[in-house]
Amino acid sequence: MPLAGKRILLVISGGIAAYKSLDLIRRLRERGAEVRPVMTAGAREFVTPLAVGALSAGHVYTDLFSREDEQDVGHIRLARDCDLIVVAPATADLMAKMANGHADDLASTVLLATDRPVLVAPAMNPKMWAHPATRRNVETLRKDGLSFVGPNAGEMAEGGEAGLGRMAEPLEIVAAVEGLLDGGAKPLAGRTAIVTSGPTHEPIDPVRYIANRSSGRQGHAIAAALARLGADVTLVSGPVTLPDPKGVDVIRVERAEEMLQAVLGALPADIAVMVAAVADWRVATANTEKIKKKPGEGPPPLLLAENPDILKTIGHHAQRPKVVVGFAAETQDVETNGRVKLQKKGADVIVANDVSPETGIMGGTHNSVKLITAAGIEQWPDLSKDAVADRLAAWIAARLT
Ligand code: C5P
Repeated sequence: MPLAGKRILLVISGGIAAYKSLDLIRRLRERGAEVRPVMTAGAREFVTPLAVGALSAGHVYTDLFSREDEQDVGHIRLARDCDLIVVAPATADLMAKMANGHADDLASTVLLATDRPVLVAPAMNPKMWAHPATRRNVETLRKDGLSFVGPNAGEMAEGGEAGLGRMAEPLEIVAAVEGLLDGGAKPLAGRTAIVTSGPTHEPIDPVRYIANRSSGRQGHAIAAALARLGADVTLVSGPVTLPDPKGVDVIRVERAEEMLQAVLGALPADIAVMVAAVADWRVATANTEKIKKKPGEGPPPLLLAENPDILKTIGHHAQRPKVVVGFAAETQDVETNGRVKLQKKGADVIVANDVSPETGIMGGTHNSVKLITAAGIEQWPDLSKDAVADRLAAWIAARLT
């Protein structure tokens, strides 16, 4: 019971995704959490307090000025008598109110009065999510220290429109809840993970090498995020200037061949996330002595040989981890190339991004990725590499559950 004894205040606001909150209540309770629901007037247009109360097995709080509710616990105690507040679904309107400190109904008052951590699962039409006002509000709420899970891309429940705005699935929200609750059992406890990160250096001679612009930021952030969720993580890192992430075993390598051996040596594992920008080619026979510039001879020819494909090796290995994640850094046809890679490499998901120089992703702090699985493509918003890592770790945890 990973959430045994945890008290969660679930704020349900008025969106069609409110129907998923019924399942969320079940999922939280079956993990041992006690769920106290607060419903806005809008939420009650979509699901009834009767259904919410039946699933949560307790009182449903709806009214700021209800004598009964106030006598029961009161809005200030409601705001504080919990380990975490989850807002699911969070409408654009409720987020706007939260960002601006409004308190004109029970939900917004509780959210203003709380000193507890808050997890927000937005759900709205893609145009509303993309609107500059919503973007500003999300940014404000993040700066205020609130956490987010989702939204995901896909068909809207009302039909006809697709894009970013679907509420995260209940199990993804549960994984985020587990990740946030300090001391709560970790969803990846007892799981092992291998992460590759950074570039590889392929020697030309003892002083020169072939390399690429990978900083290792994304891979290192993923290793740290998996460890925060309780996984036992081995990070196989190429040469980077980053500090070792907390709570992670780091194996440092230089060449692709060494990276492959380190990864194979870390098997068996439940999770493999291959983020490293492994050089596709190495110099066939690296010189043991420094190549000398000889007058009149011109540049030396460099004969290249193909490096092993680590992701493909793992994706087809007899000890293949249960979840295999690959990355695809592309400068063109991101989706098509990602789909092909999914197949070829035997991965469960390809995290594809456009690394054209104008995106500033390679070596930068932000990432804008698409998740390509057999089920379809999910575009994630432009996020910090840390936020991509947290979200991917939660996604992996949900997939393993
Ligand atoms: O084929 P491409 O290099 O674009 O594939 C990218 C994915 O494959 C990344 O997940 C990367 O870590 C992995 N890869 C690998 N070994 C290689 C080349 C790529 O593990 N030799």
